[in-house]
Amino acid sequence: MILRKASAKASAPAKIILFGEHFVVYENPAILASINRRVNVRVNLNKTQKINITSDLGIMASYTDSKFNLIRGGRNTKTILDPLYKCARDVLLERKQNLGLDINLISEVPYGIGLGSSAACCVATVAAVDSLFHKPEKQWICAKAIESERLVHKNSSGADCYVSTFGGLMSYTKKKGFNKIESRKDLSLIVVNIGIKHSTGSLVSSVKKFREWNVLLFKDLSSYADNICKKAVSAINIGDEKKVGKLMNENHTLLQQLGISHRKIDQMVNICVGNGALGAKLTGAGGGGSMIALIPTENKRKVISEIKKNRYECIPVKIDYDGLLVH
Ligand code: MEV
Repeated sequence: MILRKASAKASAPAKIILFGEHFVVYENPAILASINRRVNVRVNLNKTQKINITSDLGIMASYTDSKFNLIRGGRNTKTILDPLYKCARDVLLERKQNLGLDINLISEVPYGIGLGSSAACCVATVAAVDSLFHKPEKQWICAKAIESERLVHKNSSGADCYVSTFGGLMSYTKKKGFNKIESRKDLSLIVVNIGIKHSTGSLVSSVKKFREWNVLLFKDLSSYADNICKKAVSAINIGDEKKVGKLMNENHTLLQQLGISHRKIDQMVNICVGNGALGAKLTGAGGGGSMIALIPTENKRKVISEIKKNRYECIPVKIDYDGLLVH
């Protein structure tokens, strides 16, 4: 394969899950949106056989024939950078190239709070490296990114990589892929950072145990979650925000029953709903991380001021309709 250029840039957005997280791992649908916070990746060819990866998290490593050499950072550097190395190495193998690369990541997405930072990093890295050799093909990029994200958590449903690649508001199932959702009204959402970092892998494992120990209950909860998603698609289509909010609250109750909420998330969900949010729930893997709230414009100021009084970070977000961008 011919080298098209010596350097490339790509960026991919973070995400929120409006409905169906965790259940989506077991073939249920989820409703997701990509949001206006991005991971930016720049790749340059270098004259060595090494793949050097630097991130603005203050970490850096160099890989020679899959051997990890820490240059800067703490104990979790390898865990964070290995999937990105796999992204680059797999693309080089697939395109039959044996080159050295310098990969640089700059992220607007806080790490480990359920906003899909690792998926966005994988999508943007695969896209940037592949665009050195090939015209970007989103479906191929997404599939490669999912393989690498499975180093972060091996049972990934692939939902985060899909929404980061294709962007917008979508419903997703593992078997059928995604469908874009049309929305008559912009959903007025905020994200609240609960301030507790989580590990998606261990939360997905804890739900797996819950499912093994509570077979019938899990089946009931899944069918309830499935129903919520179906109703939510219709409510979003016609712009019925009250209904969407009510369904978010119901979805949060299901996640509490799975045991993956957190005292602080529940406290903030109650504060949001008590001050005029139409609905609120945890988003992503849970166990800390982030929550989202749907708030009518007239109540936004009041809700945000209560969140800030409680010393939580409030991140206003807009839905991103671009998905992956290769520059
Ligand atoms: C994590 O953002 C979403 C989960 O449903 C896991 C997955 O879909 O792979 C918890």
